[in-house]
Amino acid sequence: GGPPTAPLTGDPAQQGETWRPPATPMRFPDGFVLGAATSAFQVEGSTTADGRGPSIWDTFAAEPGRIRDGATGDPAADHYRRWEQDVDLMADLGLAGYRFSVAWPRVQPTGSGAVNRAGVDFYRRLVDRLLERGIEPAVTLYHWDLPQPLQDRGGWASRDTASRFADYAAVVFDALRDMPGPWLTVNEPKTTAYVGYGSGYHAPGVRDVGQMVAAVHHQLLGHGMAVQAFRASGASGRVGIALNLQPVYVGEPGAEDAAVRADAVENRLFLDPVLTGTYPDDAIGEEAGQIRADPSVLDDVVLDGDLDVVSEPLDVLAVQYYGVTGVDRSGQYVEMYPTSDAPWQQVHPEGMYETLVRVRDDYPTAPALVVTENGIPDPTSEGGTDDPERLEFLRAHLQQVVRAAQDGVDVQAYYAWSLLDNFEWAEGLDQRWGLVHVDFATQERTPKASARWYADVVAAHAVPP
Ligand code: NOJ
Repeated sequence: GGPPTAPLTGDPAQQGETWRPPATPMRFPDGFVLGAATSAFQVEGSTTADGRGPSIWDTFAAEPGRIRDGATGDPAADHYRRWEQDVDLMADLGLAGYRFSVAWPRVQPTGSGAVNRAGVDFYRRLVDRLLERGIEPAVTLYHWDLPQPLQDRGGWASRDTASRFADYAAVVFDALRDMPGPWLTVNEPKTTAYVGYGSGYHAPGVRDVGQMVAAVHHQLLGHGMAVQAFRASGASGRVGIALNLQPVYVGEPGAEDAAVRADAVENRLFLDPVLTGTYPDDAIGEEAGQIRADPSVLDDVVLDGDLDVVSEPLDVLAVQYYGVTGVDRSGQYVEMYPTSDAPWQQVHPEGMYETLVRVRDDYPTAPALVVTENGIPDPTSEGGTDDPERLEFLRAHLQQVVRAAQDGVDVQAYYAWSLLDNFEWAEGLDQRWGLVHVDFATQERTPKASARWYADVVAAHAVPP
């Protein structure tokens, strides 16, 4: 009984020798898919084209001061108009997989009811072209662009949004029913809840712990309802959810209990309900490391039978890994490893291995794993195509993925974040995460050194030392 407890193995004081990669290439398992990822709002632009409705990110980005450089989702990387060229680019790089998201407000402009055929057709054409080029699509259904009319009725703080999401998902399952790759229901429900409804730094810009906790549950409920819709649809492919996981380390002596609770907040609040049908009892409360609220805020929104829906069996679990954090005795996050240009990202490649192994070891019901995001922003905002930091980041993290596979973890795919420089949410266009450089003035694409290196990795099906 009881929820699994995090192995807090990352504390350097507790660690043995650092793992060293072999001097020879590390081969991926047969059939392992190497690709790259984007999301609709971050790359598409054309936010009013062909009947698309407004999303919460259109609203949010239009508010002064919300986005660092004042960028909006239009034109972003203009992918809605340049998608054919972008598929050619993927084919040139030899990518075996492409993860993208479907924009709900293109498919259902008001978030419910009538389907906008033009929106559906865009993704149909994209999937067909990818398949023609031998690139396996991976489709995310919700990557943060909630139709604004649903936010006007409470967004993810409202239970009804879960049902609306399942209805929308059913439309997409039907339209792309032959899509052979993984379907991901909800992308990073943690970020939407904590940053969208907690700190308010992301859309919808709410700062309310009650709504935040409700948003956790309603996204997971919507996920489970979408899985049910997937089974009922008879669509092909495999279904799962994309969770951003982050090892939590003991950042100073005496912080052990705070680290266990922070692990509940970062990881178990999502893994436990999805994989075991229970919520951890240590994520919410007044202790160091917890979400500061009365635990009843969660109990109040979880109705009888919900956890059976939330824990519908999955075919894949998608893991997004960017780095680790330490916590101190008071539960504050502390820096234990160097950060990237994104201040929240403490870079520690071993954390990738630990995360994959931990899911396998702590959750016997876990399905096959796919890594749907991993990456780093350029260290300066200027951009450019010489990006040795990204290349070394990818090398080190890919090695840890193969290491996990060699240790018996069933991990089947890896998608670098991101294919293109794009709209990095509240950071705007300034923070560049692409393998491919985008000149936002001309929309010219230029593969960075890391993209050329990654193309060789895909071709060799192995990570060079
Ligand atoms: C996770 C999100 O899913 C993605 O949209 C974002 O761009 C990356 N992290 C980088 O912050």
